[in-house]
Amino acid sequence: MNQERLDVLQEKVNFPLIGTRAPEFEAVTTKGPMHFPNDFEGKWVILFSHPADFTPVCTTEFMTFASMHDEFLAHNTELVGLSIDSLHSHLGWLEAIENYTWDGIEKPKVKFPLIADIRMEVAKAYGMLQGESDTHAVRAVFFIDPQGIIKTILYYPASLGRNFAEIKRVLIGLQKAEKDGVALPANWEPGKDVIVPPPTTREEVEQRVELAKDTSKYNMLDWFLTFKKDDGK
Ligand code: BEZ
Repeated sequence: MNQERLDVLQEKVNFPLIGTRAPEFEAVTTKGPMHFPNDFEGKWVILFSHPADFTPVCTTEFMTFASMHDEFLAHNTELVGLSIDSLHSHLGWLEAIENYTWDGIEKPKVKFPLIADIRMEVAKAYGMLQGESDTHAVRAVFFIDPQGIIKTILYYPASLGRNFAEIKRVLIGLQKAEKDGVALPANWEPGKDVIVPPPTTREEVEQRVELAKDTSKYNMLDWFLTFKKDDGK
């Protein structure tokens, strides 16, 4: 990539970071005006972008998000979509989607808001415009906690539809890690063993070794890596 192109990219890409406050914005959506993140205080939000309305992969993703909406709501989580398209385009596309049947998803109702980011202000603030296109957002997924802090960011290219089992796993994992003060191992799924935070002093190491003698609850691989059975609470 030449320097000129890099300079253009540098100017347009502004990546929010995990652990920082989600950039605030006001937007027009298919469910009316939105003030973000204030409208969602006390709730988790999955803010996601797609490249364009009336495109094949995006349509399968929207059908899937719509079919899983209630599952996310059950986890105190709102969905918010975004693309660089007009409100009229969004309204037409959502109408069309609600007539489709695919992969066991029958005529899904899209009940979550879709931002019409026609001026690209939100896309730029969230690093959704990357090297693939100057006018189409990548497939970004931001997991934002009830205090408005970004906890996880996923980016996918236009050609690859997202894995929704992974999106749900990430959300449940973030909520679990926060609620129980634990960490989660590779390929963790709900119900699997969690990781107890490692000891930070030699006294804590001794206490951890004692604790782990209860093998009905703990599995210690080494002093810094102790698994705990998930009690499901
Ligand atoms: C799609 O959703 O199918 C798509 C969107 C933009 C570029 C390529 C594919």
